Amino acid sequence: MLALAHPRLVDIERARYLVSPAGRAALAAIPLEAGRDDPNRLVTRLRKIHPPAEASALAEQATLRGKAAGRFGHDLAMLLTASGLEMMTHPLVAERRARRLAALRLPVADLTCGLGGDLLACAELGVAAAGIERDTATAILARANVQAADVILGDAARPPLRLDHLAIILDPSRRDAARRTFDPGAFSPPWDTCIEVLSTARAGVLKAPPGLDRERVPPAAEMEAVQLGTGMREVTLWTGEGAVPGLRRAVLLPVGAELTSEAPECAEEPGPIGRFLFDPESCVTRAGLVRHLAHRLGAWMLDSQVAYLSAGAPAFDPLAATFEVLDVVPFSVRRLKDLLAARGWHAGEVRRRAFPVEPDELRRLLGRPKGDPVTLLCTTIGGQRTVVVARRLRPEDPVPGA
Ligand SMILES: C[S@@+](CC[C@H](N)C(=O)[O-])C[C@H]1O[C@@H](n2cnc3c(N)ncnc32)[C@H](O)[C@@H]1O
Repeated sequence: MLALAHPRLVDIERARYLVSPAGRAALAAIPLEAGRDDPNRLVTRLRKIHPPAEASALAEQATLRGKAAGRFGHDLAMLLTASGLEMMTHPLVAERRARRLAALRLPVADLTCGLGGDLLACAELGVAAAGIERDTATAILARANVQAADVILGDAARPPLRLDHLAIILDPSRRDAARRTFDPGAFSPPWDTCIEVLSTARAGVLKAPPGLDRERVPPAAEMEAVQLGTGMREVTLWTGEGAVPGLRRAVLLPVGAELTSEAPECAEEPGPIGRFLFDPESCVTRAGLVRHLAHRLGAWMLDSQVAYLSAGAPAFDPLAATFEVLDVVPFSVRRLKDLLAARGWHAGEVRRRAFPVEPDELRRLLGRPKGDPVTLLCTTIGGQRTVVVARRLRPEDPVPGA
């Protein structure tokens, strides 16, 4: 292990070295591709040029930079720590948050700025921004990462600033050195403290994990469920100026598709499976907007407890996948196998909602794939386990039967 094999400067000294002109120059001489090398080989190479502890610090930076580039698709050009990178807001999510903050035309204080992911996004939009961070080494790196903002050492629970004229960002830590916590009471600062601090600011935004229990959302907050690509990134609460208390919003990035609880919702009772079926994105279900999406798609629900929607006509929306229904069978592996074999199909994709069998397990039970790929949408409708065999449709596809 890198950390054991080579002497390690304590974190603060390491951070000071990395932000120094010597550290900067040494890092600039390491190509981004070096981050993909074996860390031990990289540190051995660097020890030929640098003292051991500095070589170890540089090798760690190179490795983390490579990791960040792999994760975010470009070089962040930031000084990193493993935990700071792990906790950093994705740049596309940070940019959207920063745009919304910029529209408030208030100075911003990021009270838990970490390495500066959110802070940098604000500064890049020209927002007057300052960061607070309680960890000294992290604050040293954040100062170097976001030169347009002041970063000061402090405790977000007792911010050394008056908040009544500021928009604040709170992104509490959800992990200690060893593990991630799912208990909001164990976040740092704890959830209730964050809510309290938010209430004293003119405007505020609190980043929470995607799985946050909706009961934790205070009535004064607007809630956003933010998804990037296929993954839920966070639940974001907005309070104070610019926020609409009680509003829920689904946000899909990078396309920027949105739906809010102010949109009309489908009031119809659940209906039968029609020619088309829709599978809403996670941000829609997390925001509790399935009925609103149904209205937008001209669709109805199949079961009040299940998010699959159906309609007699196709519709396309970035917030749902559209399928043409090819067949519907009560769930039985035997029956499904027979149907697929008879039609010359195989289960290319398996989706499920309110269905007990894991997609991989179902694929295994169905045996070796032969024939054309179809999608199986496995669910429970009115207590009956049901499999919808379907074909994914894209907006550019010819409309079936038209
Ligand atoms: C999830 S990270 C923030 C990441 C940041 N939003 C970004 O995009 O880079 C949380 C940060 O808050 C800091 N922190 C935790 N408790 C704090 C407190 N009470 N006051 C100030 N900072 C705190 C942690 O040290 C950590 O760096």
